[in-house]
Amino acid sequence: MKIIRSTTVMQEKMIKISKSESIGFVPTMGYFHEGHLALMKQAAEDNDVVVTSIFVNPLQFGPNEDYEQYPRDEEQDIRLAEQAGVDILFIPSVKDMYPTKMNITLSVEERANVLCGRSRPGHFEGVITVLTKLFNIIRPNKTYFGLKDAQQVAVVDALINDLNFPIQLIALPTIREHDGLAKSSRNVNLANDERSQAVWLTKALEHGHQLVVDGEQNPAIIVKEVIDVINRETSGTVDYVEMLSYPELQSVSTIKNNVVLAVAVQFKRARLIDNIIFNEN
Ligand code: PAJ
Repeated sequence: MKIIRSTTVMQEKMIKISKSESIGFVPTMGYFHEGHLALMKQAAEDNDVVVTSIFVNPLQFGPNEDYEQYPRDEEQDIRLAEQAGVDILFIPSVKDMYPTKMNITLSVEERANVLCGRSRPGHFEGVITVLTKLFNIIRPNKTYFGLKDAQQVAVVDALINDLNFPIQLIALPTIREHDGLAKSSRNVNLANDERSQAVWLTKALEHGHQLVVDGEQNPAIIVKEVIDVINRETSGTVDYVEMLSYPELQSVSTIKNNVVLAVAVQFKRARLIDNIIFNEN
């Protein structure tokens, strides 16, 4: 596995490779767990060359968010990426990615005015801006994202379609701990009691889904039940629970076609998200 840190070296190399080989790209912020590795393994099955990037993107963190606290372990990431079949690991510095303040950034409306986009102003603008840079540097044929961040998948889908990137978006299911908690780099920032409570995000979503299976059609009732479970079983503060069409992320009055039921909960040092996507027709 090659490690490349310079954006210009990376871009020159990828221009050459893209002439004859198919490229699969997994963008990440590092501190790898099984969720990241599943994306890399799938990319290795589908493509000639697998590229993973590690870049904790300052542009997508708000002023009071956990940019400094975001966990990092480059040595372990290098080992794990190699085992997962990555050919090129791209680890640019902030200075190389953003040598000057950006003159041009992108903005997103429809799919970012709900869920995390509403609670984290500027977050998805930061995500699509860095991804546009990475797509231009790496020139992938396919890019791999996890449905753990379902809104991110919806926004990247819009980015690729709206700006005509010649890239196929592959979305893979959420990888979970044995008790059901969605794997996340941020889980290490949970206190012990919070870690045992955190499983209730998933259980609450499953309860919400079960209500639909049992015939409940009113999203407001389902959302309220999910909030009640989380408030009863955890010490965290509910940031949002929402049920929306997927991937359009529009509000729904009854449940038809694909919907996402999504939750964000703030614990002391970690904000966790989870979701389920289902279709009851
Ligand atoms: P990061 O949080 O490191 O996630 C990188 C990729 O791993 C994302 O596509 C995310 O959805 C996926 N992922 C994380 N946890 C997962 C899990 N439990 N199961 C399946 N997939 C999982 O998302 C980002 O980085 C950044 O916003 C980025 C896209 C790199 C832009 O900076």
